[in-house]
Amino acid sequence: MVNDPVIDAGRLPRHIAIIMDGNGRWAQGRNQPRLFGHKAGAGSVREIVEVCREIGIEVLTLYAFSSENWNRPEQEVSGLMSILKNYLISELNRMLDNGIRLRCIGDIARLPDEPRLTLLDSMESTAGNTDMTLNLALSYGGRDEMTRAIRQIGEDCKSGKLDPQDITEEDITTRLDTAGLPDPDLLIRTGGEARLSNFLLWQASYAEIYFTETMWPDFRRTQFLKAISEFQQRERRFGKTSAQVTAG
Ligand code: IPE
Ligand code: IPE
Ligand code: MG
Repeated sequence: MVNDPVIDAGRLPRHIAIIMDGNGRWAQGRNQPRLFGHKAGAGSVREIVEVCREIGIEVLTLYAFSSENWNRPEQEVSGLMSILKNYLISELNRMLDNGIRLRCIGDIARLPDEPRLTLLDSMESTAGNTDMTLNLALSYGGRDEMTRAIRQIGEDCKSGKLDPQDITEEDITTRLDTAGLPDPDLLIRTGGEARLSNFLLWQASYAEIYFTETMWPDFRRTQFLKAISEFQQRERRFGKTSAQVTAG
């Protein structure tokens, strides 16, 4: 659109991951209950997914519910679960029409039946889509994910499938929930905090991190494109010197 921040379509991040934070404060600032903010946040999710599909982002990972979020008041947890279920139901056709494959990471066995079964159904219905992957982090924690992967590695060592001396980074990567996905290039956190809160601890090792004060319900197309535009101005050195990087 006319006033969009300028982005270079030839140098897009392949994978963008977002910590969608600030719903509660956004609502409280309006004298509304926290769930009002979570509902408004679902609107931002819709818009950001749409922009990603439009500009050609391969993978979008959204941190929707952390392993630690189970410790919130039970009413907020059940409200979030019902927003999740409603989102999945209302978005299925749009995902099918737009070639979006739904995936998830996290310990989804902990989710209540309703959202879990809806999630599994939607993932199955969209499994053949190849234009974009929408990856929802649900009941997700980076440490929990790594612990589960290490358990599997332990089992493979015990059964003789794997020699501990031969364990590679790939052996770890392929046992994480994100197996098969590229690492995130750009990690965005809205809501003003500058921390990772247990998100993609292994995968984000070289992600460019973008923190913004904007609360998630206010994070829309323009703010998102601005984050991508800033990402494109950074120099990713991966341990090398700037001179090495510019020499290509
Ligand atoms: C993020 O918003 C959504 C979830 C964690 C589910 P918050 O609910 O954390 O909002 P704040 O940080 O309290 O404002
Ligand atoms: C991180 O937000 C988790 C999600 C956005 C789902 P939190 O609001 O839970 O993070 P902390 O607890 O403030 O670090
Ligand atoms: Mg928060």
